[in-house]
Amino acid sequence: MTTPHPSSAGSRPQAVISGGGTGIGLASALRLARDGFDLVLLGRREAVLQEAADRIRTRTPDARVQTIVADLQDPDAVERAVGEIAGDVDVLLNNAGGNVLDRGEGLAGIAANYEANMRLNVLTAVLLTEALLPRITRPGGRIISISSIAALRGANGYGAAKAAIHGWMMGLAAELAAEGVTVNAVAPGYVPDTGFWDGRRTPDIVSSRLAQVPMNRAGTPDEVAGAVSYLAGPEGGWTTGQIIQVNGGALFGRG
Ligand SMILES: NC(=O)c1ccc[n+]([C@@H]2O[C@H](COP(=O)([O-])OP(=O)(O)OC[C@H]3O[C@@H](n4cnc5c(N)ncnc54)[C@H](OP(=O)(O)O)[C@@H]3O)[C@@H](O)[C@H]2O)c1
Repeated sequence: MTTPHPSSAGSRPQAVISGGGTGIGLASALRLARDGFDLVLLGRREAVLQEAADRIRTRTPDARVQTIVADLQDPDAVERAVGEIAGDVDVLLNNAGGNVLDRGEGLAGIAANYEANMRLNVLTAVLLTEALLPRITRPGGRIISISSIAALRGANGYGAAKAAIHGWMMGLAAELAAEGVTVNAVAPGYVPDTGFWDGRRTPDIVSSRLAQVPMNRAGTPDEVAGAVSYLAGPEGGWTTGQIIQVNGGALFGRG
């Protein structure tokens, strides 16, 4: 049995999850549905979102699940998507993102790589948050963004983009604290059971990643979703401007 979100006056509170059709986003959606939330799932692939929604409804028949197809890097698409969401938003989970690996040739290739990572990881979060900001429940709303261990040690466009999430998150936390809205980041380490690692689960990559984890195992999407659930739930109400690291101790290396 879960405690209802403080902003819900009898009805189920609403959580909006970008990239809610797969991986960490789907695990968070399943968890938040169990915690008592209705859900709005956003992503670019309709069939993926539909499959996720069916799975959530099967597990949590009480949960209302809306799906909206949108490329959240595109301001017009974000406007359209937000126009389809009814009512206030109690929890916004900015989870959409990924690592654009293609670096092309020379400096032009590096510039393109950094720009692509910024669009995919920063713009998707910033545009959706800005569009929903007037409708975040006050007091009681929660804005959570999935960053990465790469934000703290990644020497590439993906790490730079996720690091930008941290600075932005802290500024927004300061702005919204007096209105009773918390703003935080969850920074996962190696979580291979996700679309993020599709095509990259080779023995070399897997063993090199595991070698960086003192707990000697990969993380699961459910373990990241647990941190999201804490930040979204009643007991997370006094945690703001924080980076919750979920990485099996990986930031400290194996020593
Ligand atoms: N897995 C890890 O080891 C790990 C570690 C640290 C951080 N992270 C972060 O965790 C978050 C979730 O990733 P994941 O690991 O769960 O991988 P994933 O399964 O690939 O999830 C990414 C989700 O984002 C959606 N998405 C991507 N670009 C989008 C766009 N422009 N507009 C709307 N939706 C978009 C994808 O759906 P569509 O393709 O259908 O749009 C997908 O559902 C990401 O921000 C990732 O950077 C992952």
